[in-house]
Amino acid sequence: MDKKEQALRKMEEFSQTKALRFWEELSETEKEDFSDQILRTDFSCLLPENEADKAFEGKISPVPVRTVEEIEKNRDALKEKGLAVIREGKTAAVLLAGGMGTRLGSDGPKGVFDIGIHKPTYIFQRLIENLREVTDEAGVCPDLYIMTSEKNDRVTRDFLRSHEYFGYPKEHIFFFVQENAPAVGADGQILLEEKNRLATSPNGNGGWYPSLLGSKAGIHFKASGVEWLNVFAVDNVLQRILDPVFVGAVEESGVNTGAKVIKKNAPDEGVGVLCLKEGRPLVVEYYELTDEMKTKRGPDGELVYNYGVILNYLFRRSALDEATDRRIPFHRVEKKVSCVDENGKRTEPEKPNAFKYELLVLDLLWELSTCLGFEVVREREFAPIKNRTGKDSVESAQRLLQQNGIEV
Ligand code: UD1
Repeated sequence: MDKKEQALRKMEEFSQTKALRFWEELSETEKEDFSDQILRTDFSCLLPENEADKAFEGKISPVPVRTVEEIEKNRDALKEKGLAVIREGKTAAVLLAGGMGTRLGSDGPKGVFDIGIHKPTYIFQRLIENLREVTDEAGVCPDLYIMTSEKNDRVTRDFLRSHEYFGYPKEHIFFFVQENAPAVGADGQILLEEKNRLATSPNGNGGWYPSLLGSKAGIHFKASGVEWLNVFAVDNVLQRILDPVFVGAVEESGVNTGAKVIKKNAPDEGVGVLCLKEGRPLVVEYYELTDEMKTKRGPDGELVYNYGVILNYLFRRSALDEATDRRIPFHRVEKKVSCVDENGKRTEPEKPNAFKYELLVLDLLWELSTCLGFEVVREREFAPIKNRTGKDSVESAQRLLQQNGIEV
């Protein structure tokens, strides 16, 4: 069966024939390109059994975490333990950089954004400098895996190469590309970006492990002796990466995952909330929280679901390997997606017209069963850049960096 036949069969198997409505008008080359894209795109999100169920079905309860005070008492010992694990070559870092900087008003990768005031300071640079503080102290250079997406892979690689990886040895940097998922309209049919192109977008940050394993970088990873992966987001320019205290605490606790958390600063802060569902760790993403979970307070006046994740996790490799055949669910999010209409004319929607499907890294906590919630001081480790101005913005991050003695 040739590529075109395989693509048409895949579309039929998933009852997605509407997206083929211009097929007969396409040239041979356009059909080939279209077929390539169809075969490359992950359609498993379209299967109802892969959709996330309601997180709240089941008994949800607050989660005990290792608090800042508890960590401080034991800091030196935990740090030594963590440094030993790092020195033995048992850790690697994974930067999730497949998202685009759309909320920053840029259509490039977020990491290339310059947040400097007095001198150019790129987001990628800040992250690598943070990592280098630890690697300089440990005297070893763990591998850094960088996940990109089809849309930003080339720019990301070129940018980092042209800045000589901000001083990180390039033999320890590996890139891999995440998969795309299709966007569907209200009728459940995949939308078209062009007559011969499905409307697709990166399939969320949760598919990083299978994407890593299936890539060229995965060959290196599989041969490495890494036991812990520190997965982190591109947008928090103050975070500690491979923080030895965190590594030491998680290793010591015997759990499969660790999650850095902060105390929420408001009921509607845009952070996923760490809790327990029937005794297992669960993160409920901020846009899926019920009002009750957002606002419920205990007798001490504090929010009951008070701990938000900063998207800095440790995952035990053997537990990830055991879980690879169990899929984490897709979350369906309503979004505006530009697409071609019935007549093949491109339209820009004014309101959400489509559903995108995303795998979320936070679902791995539930999947891997055990987690140490590890509290960090917000002002020292959380400066996320989501917006250009205002809350969680370039400006607020600049202020926090300065407060921490980091000149930008
Ligand atoms: C994220 C977390 C949220 C956490 C908050 C802290 C998820 C799903 N959400 O929210 O729980 O409290 O940060 O600031 O983890 N990314 C990809 N590929 C994708 C989509 C995203 O690599 O397809 C990367 C982004 O580049 C970024 C990270 O994942 O590094 C988070 O992106 P985003 O989806 O914007 O999550 P937030 O809403 O910021």
